[in-house]
Amino acid sequence: METKFWELKKNPEEMIAEAAGLIAAGEIVAFPTETVYGLGADGLNAEAVVKIFAAKGRPADNPLILHIADTEQILPLTTGLNANAMALMETFWPGPLTIVVPRSDLVPDIVTAGLDTVAVRMPSHPVAAALIRASGCPIAAPSANVSGKPSPTNAQDVAEDMTGKIAGILDGGSCGIGVESTVVDTTSPVPTILRPGGITREMLEERLGAVEIDPALNGDPALKPKAPGMKYRHYAPQAPIFLYEGAQAAQRLFEAVLRAQKLGLHAGVLCDDAVKKQLEESLWRGHTVEILSWGSGKPDLAEHLYELLRDFDRVSPEFIIGMGVDEKGLGLAVMNRLRKAAGYQILLAEEDNIIVKSGSGFPEFLLIGDN
Ligand code: TXA
Ligand code: MG
Repeated sequence: METKFWELKKNPEEMIAEAAGLIAAGEIVAFPTETVYGLGADGLNAEAVVKIFAAKGRPADNPLILHIADTEQILPLTTGLNANAMALMETFWPGPLTIVVPRSDLVPDIVTAGLDTVAVRMPSHPVAAALIRASGCPIAAPSANVSGKPSPTNAQDVAEDMTGKIAGILDGGSCGIGVESTVVDTTSPVPTILRPGGITREMLEERLGAVEIDPALNGDPALKPKAPGMKYRHYAPQAPIFLYEGAQAAQRLFEAVLRAQKLGLHAGVLCDDAVKKQLEESLWRGHTVEILSWGSGKPDLAEHLYELLRDFDRVSPEFIIGMGVDEKGLGLAVMNRLRKAAGYQILLAEEDNIIVKSGSGFPEFLLIGDN
């Protein structure tokens, strides 16, 4: 199939109208949101939604989010909204928050994967909102990556995964937030975060009081996540990632990279600007270490993480050494994604020792503490 590529620089309205026409006609179009790019279809047309699963190679037991542009659009999709759901909509919509609510019969089974709830979100990106309004339907949309790859945060990454498989791609530039929306189940007695994202736990607690986090998010393989999508291996670059966490993470990563250089290893390094600068001042000239930095601070890490994971596949190091951040604020969402990408190969670097937090088979040179 030919995939149209609309650069939204001039005549964005015309292009959005053309894309909306394709969605209304049962085709798939990728579009930007403030979190990541989505792969959109008419959410009330089961035959159109099937095409999303085919294009992504997505397992059928993983439900989709319905995207709306106006608050009232949620009403026909649900049998009822409780006070928590309404408080969240009022406070955080439009924005990077998805709420799980009881579904109505109008929602096709394929969207909810047969669950009795449906996930709904109102994105704040102007192109997403305009597309939904022009299509005249709620848009079912997962992230626009092939299943198992990092979510795309720019139209080029969408094109890499989706060219030839969908009707078109709306290029609205880079996504500002860079990690997916927070998914909150409003149907449980205490509202529960099923996937951490752009709206932080602290923001939710400030509005709702108590909020729980699905215990399966900690990576314990014995627990089954309540959001089906969270159980799949995700976001993994081809090279294994070994992740340092804890107060001494930056220092230990720095020392480990110098050792990797001495050993002549083709290592990838995922770190912030400060550590990158320190490394560049210390490494030999002509070194074979690939240092990719996210900038500085958690918002930069969220914005660039997926792009960097894709970049590592282009430079294909033997392995990647990364450093984590604390879990406050956006840290919860980025560490959830980063730990998954690392397959939970995590070393905890506190004070003067390094302990294996989870995982196995770490190269010896990563485990050396103070010397
Ligand atoms: O930021 C986002 O949310 C992006 C953009 C495109 O809006 N979308 C996105 O969709 O990340 P997707 O399909 O990649 O992730 C949706 C997540 C999955 O983990 C899925 O299992 C969960 O939401 N989900 C959907 N419906 C659910 C339901 N009824 N109950 C529990 N989890 C649900
Ligand atoms: Mg996804």
